[in-house]
Amino acid sequence: MPSKDRVSLVKTPLPGPQSKRLIQKESELMARGAYGSPDDRMFMAVKASGSIVEDVDGNRFIDFGSGWGTNNVGNCHPEVVEAVSAMLRQLGVTCWTSAGNTAQRLDLAEKLLTVCPERTDRVLFLTTGTEAVEAALRVMRRASNRPFVISFYGQYHGLSYGCMAAGPLEASVREDVAPLVNGFVYAPYPYSYRTPLRSRTGGGAGKATLEYIEDIILTYEVPPSKIAGILVEPVVGEAGIWVPPDDFLPGLRDLCDKHDWYLCIDEVQSGFGRCGKMWAFEHWNVEPDLIVIGKGLSGGSMPIAAVAGRHDIFDKAEAFVAGTYAGHPAGCAAGLKTIEIIQRDRLLEHATTLGDYGLKRLQAMKSAARVYG
Ligand SMILES: Cc1ncc(COP(=O)(O)O)c(C=O)c1O
Repeated sequence: MPSKDRVSLVKTPLPGPQSKRLIQKESELMARGAYGSPDDRMFMAVKASGSIVEDVDGNRFIDFGSGWGTNNVGNCHPEVVEAVSAMLRQLGVTCWTSAGNTAQRLDLAEKLLTVCPERTDRVLFLTTGTEAVEAALRVMRRASNRPFVISFYGQYHGLSYGCMAAGPLEASVREDVAPLVNGFVYAPYPYSYRTPLRSRTGGGAGKATLEYIEDIILTYEVPPSKIAGILVEPVVGEAGIWVPPDDFLPGLRDLCDKHDWYLCIDEVQSGFGRCGKMWAFEHWNVEPDLIVIGKGLSGGSMPIAAVAGRHDIFDKAEAFVAGTYAGHPAGCAAGLKTIEIIQRDRLLEHATTLGDYGLKRLQAMKSAARVYG
C-alpha cells in the first residue's frame, strides 16, 4: 500500500472540485468517445512546463505521458514557444498550390534530412501522424504498383479508416468500422513476453515472425509480387512499449531486399529521441526506405508530420498528398528549433542515461518481486 504522505503529494482527492465541474461540463458539451470517456477523467489540465502538468485545482503531476509522446524537449519549451510565436506573427497558413510554396518548409526539410540516413533525400509534410502514415502507404503502393502491405498485430497507426486497417491494435478499437479497408496482411509482432508463435528452426520470437511471413503469408495469402512493402513500428507504442528481438528489423530489411519491397518504418512515437537515438531503427543499424515522422517533430507545440525517403521512390510514386495545414510555417519553425535543442543540449545522450537508469531500477524491482498464488 502507498504511504499517506505519498498520496498527499496532490492537494485534493482526484478529481478536485474544479476538475469535477469541468468534467461534468465536458459530458454535456463534447461528443462521447472523443479522447476516451469523461467517466475515467482524473483532472483537467490548464498549464504545463518542462515535465510538470498542472490542473485547474492547482494539482501538479509529473508528465510521464510526455503529451502522448510529443514533447520530447519538455512541455512548452520556451525557445520552441518563441519560435512558433515569432513565425505566427510573420506568416500563417499560405497556399500550397502550384502558385506558391513557403520557404519555411524548405528550411525544415533541409534540417530534417540532416538527421535522416544519408540516402534519405526527400521529405513531404503533413499535419498529423495519421495523415503521414496514409501518405506513406499511398507512396508505397503507387511506387511499386502493388496493392498489399504487411503489418503486425499490436501496431497502431491512427484512427482513419486506412490507418485502422493498417494498425491492428485491438479488435475492440476496430469493431464498429467493418468492413475494413482492404490490402493489408498481418503477422504477429515479435513480442517475446506473449508470442503466440514458435520458430521452426529453434530461433526466438523475431525468427518466428519472419518465418511466419514466408511460411504462411507468402505461401497461403499473397504472393511476394503483390506486396508493396512492410509497415512496422520499430518499438511498438500504444500496445504497451514492445521492444523487438534484435534479429527482427534486420530480418525485415533482408525480406524487403529479397522481394523488392519497401520497408516503411513508423517513427511517429518511437522517433525524435524517445528511444535514445534520433530514430529507434538506428538501434539495429537498419535503413528504411520510408520514415513516417510526427508527434515529437514540433516539440509538442504544433501539429506537423512528415514522410522522408529517397527521391527515386517519391519520383516513381508522384503521389498527390497534401492538406490545408500541412507543413504550416509555425510547425516548420517549431521543428527547426526542436532539432536544434535536441542537438545542442545533447538530449539523445540524456535520454540514454535516464533510460539505462530507469531500466536498471525496473529490472531490480522485477528480480525482487514475489509472485503470490
Ligand atoms: C506509431 C504511431 N503512428 C501513428 C500515429 C498517429 O498519429 P496522430 O495521432 O498524430 O495522427 C500514432 C499516434 O499515437 C502512433 O503512435
